[in-house]
Amino acid sequence: MSTPVMIEASHLTKYYGDFPAITDVSFSAQKGEILGFLGPNAAGKTTTMRILTGFMPPSSGAASIAGYDVVTESLEARRHVGYLPETVPLYTDMMVKDYLHFMGTIRGMEGKAIQRRISDVIQICRLEEYYKAHIAKLSKGFRQRVGVAQAILHEPEVLVLDEPTVGIDPIQVVETRQLIKSLGGERTIILSTHILPEVSMICQRVIIIHEGEIVAMDTPQALAERLQGAERIQLEVAGPMGQVVRTLRAIPGVQDVTFTDLGDRRSAYSVISRRGDEMRANLAKAVVEQGWGLLRLETVSMSLEEIFLRLTTTEEA
Ligand SMILES: Nc1ncnc2c1ncn2[C@@H]1O[C@H](COP(=O)(O)OP(=O)(O)OP(=O)(O)O)[C@@H](O)[C@H]1O
Ligand SMILES: [Mg+2]
Repeated sequence: MSTPVMIEASHLTKYYGDFPAITDVSFSAQKGEILGFLGPNAAGKTTTMRILTGFMPPSSGAASIAGYDVVTESLEARRHVGYLPETVPLYTDMMVKDYLHFMGTIRGMEGKAIQRRISDVIQICRLEEYYKAHIAKLSKGFRQRVGVAQAILHEPEVLVLDEPTVGIDPIQVVETRQLIKSLGGERTIILSTHILPEVSMICQRVIIIHEGEIVAMDTPQALAERLQGAERIQLEVAGPMGQVVRTLRAIPGVQDVTFTDLGDRRSAYSVISRRGDEMRANLAKAVVEQGWGLLRLETVSMSLEEIFLRLTTTEEA
């Protein structure tokens, strides 16, 4: 038997007015998978997650959770999904235990079952010490754990976590990541983040979203290789083509050179090389030192690279 698909997004598009926040977003997650949803601010992460959790319908396209359409079977779909929103609407004057009880009641849980489950989630989320604390007095990290606790309360098979580690201190970040990992396995999780290393640590697969469109979908390892790998640089040189090619090929780090004659002693070169500013400087230097004319030198926008330059949010040490 094949692994069941627990999250399915199919050609999701969402307009706010006439602004498309996401366009033609399609992906799926299999049972047990932890999927990272990586993208800079305004990429469309929260929008997609709100659609998956039935908070708003897409303008077009469809999505399902555990096989239930989030629009036409929203009750069933919601029963199978736990949601940690970007800002958890916690009732700060409540005690943790009362809040969880309240959330359980809203989801149709009752009596003994709620009590049992609350003590489970308190343990899972390591909230034992704060069971009777007022939410107002909890630190951001512990509030986030209360948010996770309410998300898993009704034992959903799918978890949608919107930036679960944002704004919490480094130690709690580590703990929260461990918590999320421990929630994987049986459950299917999609979590959004703008921190590249975070997805490598937690996720088996990464979707990169940028300006509302999916630009890459791969394992963190494969993405990392692509990022550390090569880049393409285009040059236009006034000089003898054969010699220029030989000179470029001799530069350490250059992996491949292709070329086209543009006539009039000018030619275009496409160089695949190790990535980095130093590489471009060396190419330029080699050409100029020979007394040839460097008419153009540019890195061809590899979309992934651009995206990642924007994404290079470094983590606090
Ligand atoms: N209710 C709304 N009305 C109008 N535009 C909106 C609304 N919500 C989001 N947008 C716009 O849609 C785009 C996607 O927003 P979204 O919140 O999904 O991004 P995000 O990836 O979650 O960003 P962030 O990392 O900042 O949380 C943004 O340009 C945003 O300004
Ligand atoms: Mg967001």
